[in-house]
Amino acid sequence: MKHLLKLLDLTSEEITEILDLADELKAELKNGTAKPRLQGKTLGMIFQKSSTRTRVSFETGMYQLGGMALFLSANDLQIGRGEPVEDTARVLSRYLDGIMIRTFAQEEVEGLAKHGSIPVINGLTDFCHPCQVLADLMTMREYLGKSLSGKKMCFIGDGNNMANSLIVGGLKMGMTVSCACPDNYHPHPIVLKFAAEYGDKFSLTSKPEEAAVKADVMVTDVWASMGQEGEKAEREKAFKGYQVNDEIMALANPGCIVQHCLPAHKGEEITYNVFESHAKEIFDEAENRLHAQKAVLVKLLG
Ligand code: CP
Ligand code: NVA
Repeated sequence: MKHLLKLLDLTSEEITEILDLADELKAELKNGTAKPRLQGKTLGMIFQKSSTRTRVSFETGMYQLGGMALFLSANDLQIGRGEPVEDTARVLSRYLDGIMIRTFAQEEVEGLAKHGSIPVINGLTDFCHPCQVLADLMTMREYLGKSLSGKKMCFIGDGNNMANSLIVGGLKMGMTVSCACPDNYHPHPIVLKFAAEYGDKFSLTSKPEEAAVKADVMVTDVWASMGQEGEKAEREKAFKGYQVNDEIMALANPGCIVQHCLPAHKGEEITYNVFESHAKEIFDEAENRLHAQKAVLVKLLG
């Protein structure tokens, strides 16, 4: 593994190795035996969109590993004034040991990897959010057992970056994945093509009450993602009914956990009650961003 651009690029074994290392790093941090595995290494972090979790967990993660992270707002970089990605990639490769980037187009992330000579990590694009889903899978293993094979994940809502990565990650880990999305908001065609290879282990419906049946993990995400603020009203209409609420949870398996990448819009994609009754799992998921990303950093920069 040279980069983390999307989960489609990783084998099931590579994902499992990251999750195993993440468990190890989490345990080491908790029992005070953490080692500075990335001493003297520098990660550049380019942000074209806002972030709380991604920025803080990468920055803290690098510090805990003995390295450092540089926050690079796209507005302040020459990239924001039109310097091409291929030149930015070649320049940054001369200073840094790795780049994390959060942006709109997946092509930009792939371009950095293609033209630079250091590992590139996708910190969210419109297409996918691999770091988040590694943390989600780590959390699922903590609650449901090390093998996720045969467990059922249900995603309700927008077929967005989170849905795309959850489908790929879940299927690669042997899970059954069911999605409920409105007709005009399906996951990306590339992801649907990938999922089709898994036969009846994947299903897509417009009916949340169908997708939720016997789920072991219930996942949702905002109706309007970053960059879609202008579509808010139209989306509120389209996603009415695509909500994780008590009725939906009643259809899932007893002990079903809830995951939400955050930030959440309580009262929209998830009710206040479901969110707060599953806050433990959701904030464990947020914490696991730190551990899962440290594992990715050690694998790529170590
Ligand atoms: N879940 C997530 O990526 O959060 P941030 O947008 O705060 O980084
Ligand atoms: N789908 C959301 C995820 C935020 C972490 C977005 O892209 O805004």
